[in-house]
Amino acid sequence: MKAKILQVLRETGGYVSGQQLCQQFGVSRTAVWKAINQLREMGYEIDSVSNKGYCIRSAPDILNKNELLSLRKTAWIGQKMECFEVIGSTNTTAMQMAEEGAPHGTLVVADRQDSGKGRRGRSWVMPAGIAIAMSIVLKPEELLPGNAPMLTLVSALAVARAIREQTGLEAAIKWPNDIVIDGKKVCGMLTEMSTQIDYINHIVVGIGINVHNEQFPEELIDRATSLYLASGKHFSRAVLVEAVCENFEHYYEIFMRTQELSGLQAEYDSWMVNKDRQVRILDPQGEYEGKALGITERGELLVETPEGVRKVDSGEVSVRGIYGYV
Ligand code: BTN
Repeated sequence: MKAKILQVLRETGGYVSGQQLCQQFGVSRTAVWKAINQLREMGYEIDSVSNKGYCIRSAPDILNKNELLSLRKTAWIGQKMECFEVIGSTNTTAMQMAEEGAPHGTLVVADRQDSGKGRRGRSWVMPAGIAIAMSIVLKPEELLPGNAPMLTLVSALAVARAIREQTGLEAAIKWPNDIVIDGKKVCGMLTEMSTQIDYINHIVVGIGINVHNEQFPEELIDRATSLYLASGKHFSRAVLVEAVCENFEHYYEIFMRTQELSGLQAEYDSWMVNKDRQVRILDPQGEYEGKALGITERGELLVETPEGVRKVDSGEVSVRGIYGYV
């Protein structure tokens, strides 16, 4: 009931009478009063005025199921949701859940991640209360396995727009799907997939966002940032998770209409931080440099080299800026 009360208080935006809450949830005044007090103990500021009722003033930065449910406006992401205080990796758990039958759109979120996975076998360290670790299970019946890698670019758009909307910061995309602010990485994504030859069993899109971090280890100082370091402000992680999910639904729907990125290419290019910059392509077949021109409708990076324009596929190579991380 706490999530439902929070939802009503949030949606109303003003006072809601105790009577209305009792009637809406079919419970006694005492039960409502108890739930309100429990919410206050958790850090929610809720005013109560006789003859007017309750009004929510502020919410603590809690990443739990009540908070996420009370904010939920999505159509299908998070209809099933698991929220953990501590987890090994949200991706690993989401992959297991998907294997065991969790539906399309299942959301796994954690406050702390002890063995988080990064790309290329790296780890993604995340202490409690500071960042977001979230994974979305996708079971797209119509999608061909060969088109699935484009979802990494779809996720990048969703996160970039969520950060822009919620923080006003100019989040940009470093192809294919790092999110950067002021030239430093604020979010990383790891997409994992289980397939048969011509059929996708499930995909897990894992997203890690640095939110309140005040510092980073020496070796990351030049390359990593957080929303707090970039803005001097603290943002609600639950609100950000919800914004990512809403934007993901939006872009996913556009992507699924054609199973390629023609409907998203222009927006992606406009936010691409390495567009028109010199990049170094770390291709196992041989490294080379060129100017990044934008993406194709299949999400490949177009790179202008002295030998002509080459298409770079995100699966095989890594891209470095010539003058730094981007
Ligand atoms: C990268 O190397 O840039 C990708 C980092 C991905 C981290 C996220 S955090 C949530 C999800 N769970 C994981 O174990 N990894 C991803």
